[in-house]
Amino acid sequence: MRHLLASSLLAASVLLTVSVLVAAPSSQGQAPQSTALASEMDAIKSELKGLAMTLRAAPLDAAKALAHVHELEAHLLAAKRLDPPKLSELPEAERAAHLTEYRRDMVAALDLMLKLELDVLSGDAKSAFEKVSGPLFQHREASHGKYQKK
Ligand code: HEM
Repeated sequence: MRHLLASSLLAASVLLTVSVLVAAPSSQGQAPQSTALASEMDAIKSELKGLAMTLRAAPLDAAKALAHVHELEAHLLAAKRLDPPKLSELPEAERAAHLTEYRRDMVAALDLMLKLELDVLSGDAKSAFEKVSGPLFQHREASHGKYQKK
């Protein structure tokens, strides 16, 4: 009975962590817009949720985790080639720097994902999950602050 209670509490806390990690950024009452970049981001959100759930389940299903990682890398690569939404609103003189910084931040997200892939390949689910809940989460928050329209 105590074991059952502990397992339910663990499952609930994993679900809570995962929902915080993949929560959609606030749209602050704007009408929903659909851009190619928003579609890539929605796919990233869904794959990241699947990855986080997979990494928390024991024993590690490495093939399943790697399938999510490969999708995440592909969507981040696709997102990197698209223009961030504020670009067209900026004065001409500021656009090149904004685009360069956006691409740098996408490269940083990919770099984190590749390091996470190495964790999965080594069977280290704990280290992989810590990258999702720590640096990747922080990077997402900082990037959305810079590139999303308010
Ligand atoms: C890796 C974790 C990330 C997750 C889970 C994530 C998730 C999301 C979600 C759910 C949206 C809203 C999509 C919609 O409106 O339907 C979004 C939008 C956006 N994200 Fe991310 N994101 C991540 C990382 C990043 C990074 C690293 C950048 C920039 C370097 C970025 C830039 C953007 C931008 C610019 C938008 C607005 C797109 C638009 O409205 O056209 N995101 N993201």
